[in-house]
Amino acid sequence: KMLKYEWDEMLQTQGIVVIDVYQSWCGPCKAVLNLLRKLRIDFSDDDVLHFAVAEADNLECLKPFRKSCEPVFLFCVYGKIVAIVRGVNAPLITKTVTDLVLVERKIAAGEQEPYYFSPFSEILTYSVGIIKPDDVAEGRVNEIKHSVEDASRQLAFFFPNFNVNEEEHVERTLAIIRPSLLKERRDSIIQRIKDDGFRIAMQKEIMLSEDQVRTFYKEHVDQDYFPVLLDQMTSGPTLVLALTGENAVSHWRNLLGPKTLEEAKENPESLRARYAIDSVPINQLHGSSSAVDAEKELEFFFPEEKTFALIKPDAAKTHKEEIMKRVKQAGFSISKVKEQALTREMAAQFYKDHEGKPFFEDLVNCMTAGPSVVMVLSKENAVEEWRQLMGPTDPEEAKKVSPESIRAQFAHDILSNAVHGSSNPEHAMKSIAFAFGELDAD
Ligand code: CDP
Ligand code: MG
Repeated sequence: KMLKYEWDEMLQTQGIVVIDVYQSWCGPCKAVLNLLRKLRIDFSDDDVLHFAVAEADNLECLKPFRKSCEPVFLFCVYGKIVAIVRGVNAPLITKTVTDLVLVERKIAAGEQEPYYFSPFSEILTYSVGIIKPDDVAEGRVNEIKHSVEDASRQLAFFFPNFNVNEEEHVERTLAIIRPSLLKERRDSIIQRIKDDGFRIAMQKEIMLSEDQVRTFYKEHVDQDYFPVLLDQMTSGPTLVLALTGENAVSHWRNLLGPKTLEEAKENPESLRARYAIDSVPINQLHGSSSAVDAEKELEFFFPEEKTFALIKPDAAKTHKEEIMKRVKQAGFSISKVKEQALTREMAAQFYKDHEGKPFFEDLVNCMTAGPSVVMVLSKENAVEEWRQLMGPTDPEEAKKVSPESIRAQFAHDILSNAVHGSSNPEHAMKSIAFAFGELDAD
C-alpha cells in the first residue's frame, strides 16, 4: 500500500510520472499494461518516463476517484499534475506522454526553460491541456485566462486537496545582497524588498569563504569578471534572503533588471541601477533564474539543519498536544523525541550561559519540576525557525510582537515560558549530544 509520504516522494520524481489510479476491487488497470509497456520502450532512450500505481481508497488526495468505475491516469511533472485522462483512452494517453517527453527533450537540450507553474497553471493545464513553456513565453497564458473560473470549479471538484487557491502557489526565490550594498544601504534595500510585496521567509548574514563563492558561482569561474566577483563577495558580510511571494522568481528578476551595470543603467528604474555602488564594477543584487534553481540555491545557503527543542515541564503537562501540533504544522520533522524529567545537572548544562544570573536557581527548579518533552527538530534553517516559532522569552512581549508564537499562546510567565530552543547551531549540536548522545546510555 502506498503511504502519504511515498505519494509525496513519488510526485517529486524527476521526469514524467504516469500514475494509474485504481480501485481496490479491480486492481491496477490490465487493459493498459501493453500500451504503457510500449510507451516505456518507445521512450526508453529519454529515461524520463516513470510509471506508478496508486489505490484511490488509500490516499486522501485521491478521494474524488473513489467509486469511479473507470481507470484514471494522472500525469505528473516536477510534482505537479499537468494532465488527466479518464478511461483507457489509448490515443490520448499516447499523445499526452509524447507531448510531455518532447518538452522534456527541449528542456534537456537547453532549448526551453523548465516548466513554469503559475498560480493558474494547474487550472489551465486541466482545462486546455498541457501548458508548455512556449505558451508562457509567447504570452498565450493571458489569452486563455478567461476559462479560469470555469476550470477552477472543475479542478476543485477533481482535486479538492490539490492547491487551487493562489495562496498555496506562492513561490520562493533566493536573493543576495552583496557586501558593498549591504554596508552602505542596508535599510533602504530591505525596505524596498518589503515595499515590493515580498515576504522575507529566511535570512542569514554570512562571511563567505573563497571556496563557498567558487562553489556557488561554479558556472562563472572561467569568466573574466570572476576575480572581481570573488573579491567583492569576500570583502565583507553578505546577506542572503529567501523571498516568498506570488511568482517570486520572475517578480524579483524583473525588478533587478539586466545583469551588467552598463545595461542596467539604461533602465534607471531597475534595482541593479538604483542600487549600484559607484566604486564597484559589478551589480550588487542576485536573484535565482528559475524555480528549480531557486530551490538548489536555497539548499546551498539554508541546508537542512537540526535544533534542540524542549517543552518545559509546566507546558508538557497542560499544552503538549497543541504545541506538538504547532511544531508539525510549521514543517519541522521530529527526528527524535522522548519524555524525560531533567536532572539538575542536565538543566544546568542546557543553561550553562546563565549560571550565576539571578534567575538561575529558579530556572533549574522549574526545569526539573516534572517530565519535559525533549526533541531534535530538523528543517532548513531549523535553529532560527524554531526560535521564531517560540517567540520572545517574555510572553508579555511575545503577545505584542509575535501573537502567533508558542510563547504568546501557551507561556505562563517569563520563567515558565513553555518551550526552550538552542540559540545557535553549535549550542544545538552540544545539547543534542548531551540529551541523546553517550550520556543517554543508561
Ligand atoms: O529561552 P530563551 O533562549 O528565549 O531565553 P534566555 O535568555 O536564554 O533565558 C533562558 C531562560 O531563562 C528563559 O527561557 C526563562 O525561562 C529564564 N529567564 C528568566 O526567568 N528571566 C529572565 N529575565 C530571563 C530568562
Ligand atoms: Mg537561550
